[in-house]
This record gives sequence, C-alpha cells and structure tokens, in this order.
Amino acid sequence: MNFKLAARIGAIPPYLFAHIDALKLEERAKGKDLIDLGIGDPDLPTPPHIVAAMQEATADAGTHRYPAYVGLAEFRAAAARFLTRRFGVKVDPEREVVTLIGSKEGIAHFPVAFVDPGDVVLVPDPGYPVYATLTRFMGGEVFALPLRREHGFLPDLAAIPERVARRAKIMWLNYPNNPTAALAPPEFYRQVVEFALRYDIIVASDNAYSEMWFETPAGSFLQTPGAMECGLEFHSLSKTYNMTGWRVGFAVGHAALVAALLQVKTNVDSGCFEAVQRAGVAALDGDQACVDELRRIYRERRDVFCAGLARAGYDVIKPPATFYVLLATKGMPALEFTMRLLREAGVVATPATGFGAGGEGFVRFALTAPVARLREAVARLERLRL
Ligand SMILES: Cc1ncc(COP(=O)(O)O)c(C=O)c1O
Repeated sequence: MNFKLAARIGAIPPYLFAHIDALKLEERAKGKDLIDLGIGDPDLPTPPHIVAAMQEATADAGTHRYPAYVGLAEFRAAAARFLTRRFGVKVDPEREVVTLIGSKEGIAHFPVAFVDPGDVVLVPDPGYPVYATLTRFMGGEVFALPLRREHGFLPDLAAIPERVARRAKIMWLNYPNNPTAALAPPEFYRQVVEFALRYDIIVASDNAYSEMWFETPAGSFLQTPGAMECGLEFHSLSKTYNMTGWRVGFAVGHAALVAALLQVKTNVDSGCFEAVQRAGVAALDGDQACVDELRRIYRERRDVFCAGLARAGYDVIKPPATFYVLLATKGMPALEFTMRLLREAGVVATPATGFGAGGEGFVRFALTAPVARLREAVARLERLRL
C-alpha cells in the first residue's frame, strides 16, 4: 500500500516541537528534573461545583443521546448572559450563539464555511497556528500580520496593502493574545471594524483568554459599535474554569456567520455532550469567585517569575493578561535558546517561532507550575551563562 498523504497535510511545516519533545525525553531519561513551562494547559483542577454539576448530569439518561447540533438552549442562554454581564453585549442566544466542542473546534471549522481557493486570510504572526493551517487546508492564502513589540503586539492595519485588503475574506484577531499576552484597546477594535466594513472582511476574534487578565479586565471585540455587523467571537471555558479536557466553548456574532459555522458542524460533528454543556451552565452562571481565585494565583506566579527574571538581567515582558510570559532571547534564535534552557537549566519553554516567524527573538513560558517551582526556574536561569 502507498499511503500517500494529501498535499495539504504534506504542506504543514515540520513540527517544531518534535525537537523539543525528543530532547525532553532524552533529559528525563538521564534523570534530570525538568520544570515544564512549555504547554498552555492549566495545572489546577476544575472547580468542585462544576464537577458536581457534571456528575449529576451524567447520571441523567436524558443527556446520553445525540445532542442538538446548535447546542443546548440552556447553555446558549448562559453564554448570552455571560456576554451581557461581562461585556454589556446583548445577543440572541437562538440565532447568534452556537455551542462548540472547545473553541479550537469552531476556529478550525470556520474557514471551511468561508475560504475558497485563492482567498486571502489575514492572520496574526505570531499567532495560534490553527488560523493559518485551516486557511491552507481550504486552499486559501495566508497574509501574515506581524505583531511587533514596539506596536503593542497589535497588527498595523495601515501596513496591509490595498490589493491584499480587497482580496481578504477573514481577519483573525486574538486578544488577550497567545503567545504575546497583549491586550487590545477599544480604539484598536474601532479601527478594525472600520477596516472590515470598508473592505468587506469578516472579523473572527478569538477571545479564549477573556477572563485571564490581571489589572484591567480584557474586553470583547463585540463591544465595538458595528462589530456584530462584520464579525463573530470565539469563547472558551477551557482556561477560565480549568476545563481544557472537557471540550466546551461557544461562538457568538452575526447570525449569518453563526449559521454558516453551524452548517459545517452539522456535516462534521454531532454536538457537544449535553452533560458537559450542563456543567458549562453551572460554570457560566455560578459563583465567579473561582475565577477571581484563578486570577490571584496566576498574578502571584507572574509577579514572582517576572520580577525574578528581571532581577537576573533578562528582558522579560510582564504580561497584562493570559498565563504566558515572553522572554527575549538575547539575540539568539528562539529554537537554540529553548534548547539551551532545556539542556543547561532543565527548564522547558516554547520558542515563539512555533507560532510563526514573527515570534523570532522570543520564547514563551506558561505559568502552569506552582510558585515554588517558578522560583526554582528563575534560580536556574539566573545561574545560566548565555
Ligand atoms: C489562542 C487560543 N485560542 C483557542 C484555543 C483553544 O482552546 P479550547 O479549544 O480549549 O477552547 C487555545 C488553546 O490553547 C488558544 O491558545
């Protein structure tokens, strides 16, 4: 048999993390104690009231059948209440909200509804890799929007050539941002709406980290006047409630965009387990003290880690949001810097180039370890002579 891969799979760039995974295995085999800050997966458990709601829901046979494609009405209503409570945004849960099997699922399926071969998609660089990969799967062309430190890690809309803007179908945005941890000010979103309406571009805003802010609450693209005319936003319960393994999120925005996404989903998946959606209602409608506590924990971790690295002479960017920290690589290629941290200090980071060439010059740490381990990581980096 010749299991020849489809060209679209062959065209995916080599998996950068394979090097790092191999080196991790090698170092562990030598008995090295690795502090793994490489992956953005919370180390904390899902709050007990959400687990209890799930236990109750799974015991109810009513949740065991195929769920509705669009999602449970109660979950979509809870999502709409969350948007109103948090951002003052009012949406119709019937027409403007669809449940997702994690926001990644929706982000991956959205281009299937809108990207034809040759269409241009505007993608932040560095950025969550799914935006670019699915554009390419659909035969679309990725136009990278560099996120530069000196520009607050916001794309420069004025630098997008007119001919590109005219051909662009979707613009992806992601604030709070992975991997740079930047926030977007309302004024930026106003410029985005104006740009999108001028060139007839759909704005797809990925707000998976909306609740992970430290000083100033993160906003929503949908708060911007005109946003509901040109876009939609992806939300996730993964990081807010430590539910990465549960797979639940939602998309909300213009009814036609939500309907198109639902049309793709109807042909691909069969909905999100209703018990998970009921637990999602408990999360969204329940006491948000657990989210305050989560922010307190990550804020403490951020402060310890960033102050320690700064004291040790590193150029570290203290994040206003997310649980990611960018560190400048002292002029070294990001992959080489990452390998040296791993080999010489036993600290695992992610080269920001794993999110696009625009990430060169930085590595990303995820604050997914207790304070004591972060202090230890700082001590090891302090001893390192780079
Ligand atoms: C920027 C961004 N968007 C979306 C996701 C997907 O999250 P989930 O599918 O768990 O909702 C992630 C996950 O790490 C992410 O970093």
